[in-house]
Amino acid sequence: MNIEPTGQILGATITDLNLSEPLSKSDFATLLRALAEHSVLRFPNQLLSATALRDLAQRFGTLQTGVTGKAIEPGIPEVSILSNIVRNGVPIGIPDAGQSWHTDMTYNRTPGYINALVAYEVPVRDGVTLGSTEFTNTAAAYDDLSDELKSSLADATALHDLNLYWEYMRREKGSSRAALTEEERKKRPPARHPVFLTHPVSGRKIIFVNPGYCVAVEGMPPGEGERMMQTLLDHVLQPKYRYRHHWEVNDMLIWDHLGTWHTAIADYGPNESRLMKRCQVLADRIFDPDFVRDALAA
Ligand code: SIN
Repeated sequence: MNIEPTGQILGATITDLNLSEPLSKSDFATLLRALAEHSVLRFPNQLLSATALRDLAQRFGTLQTGVTGKAIEPGIPEVSILSNIVRNGVPIGIPDAGQSWHTDMTYNRTPGYINALVAYEVPVRDGVTLGSTEFTNTAAAYDDLSDELKSSLADATALHDLNLYWEYMRREKGSSRAALTEEERKKRPPARHPVFLTHPVSGRKIIFVNPGYCVAVEGMPPGEGERMMQTLLDHVLQPKYRYRHHWEVNDMLIWDHLGTWHTAIADYGPNESRLMKRCQVLADRIFDPDFVRDALAA
């Protein structure tokens, strides 16, 4: 396979690899290393079926099924459909998934490791591709923190709450999604994570809070924890850490949640179709040292 870095703060394009076929052990090891190094991997011209997408994604860890059980590929609950397309009056997917900065599934005790998305339809207006996905680099942002901040927050934690993001989308973004039910909220109560994490493959430290699910650094006087959180969030969102992926049809993108935050850019209209299929992979196996050792030994 050929790996070509974008030359920007994140990202590489991988060619000469057929993702519809099972990955060899050595190709899988190469992908794990490339993900740890570049965080966002683009595989152009991959005509992947939903089944092939699921089979590939589950090499990286356990798959999460959709939060509400809606907008999923028929018969394949691990594959979600993200789309603004409405057929016969019925939306075929989630229209506003990820349209605000966040990292997937940090509201779980076992957070997300990667997302794998395939672009089936991409909106284009006057020759310009719309509906990009933007990322920010949480490892580079950690590196640039002052030594004082690194050491004062070395053992700090923060709560990650799915409902915060959900309500923000409803309140601020005009989302038509229904409020989470009591049962859905109980299934995903807030989770506590360290503010800084060590990436299990790269060994780099990353800033592990994100604007979607976090409000305050814990263990600080009232007001201070919120201010500290805002300082971290503003720091990571600086333009110098950002990278934007402009989709092409049949692009497959795999990104590492531990090294990034992301947001889907909603700059297209209801009649400009965007259709993605997505698998969300949990960071269960990737934090198992035996799995990493074995996978990288190939
Ligand atoms: C997501 O947040 O998983 C969706 C990203 C996108 O559709 O660009």
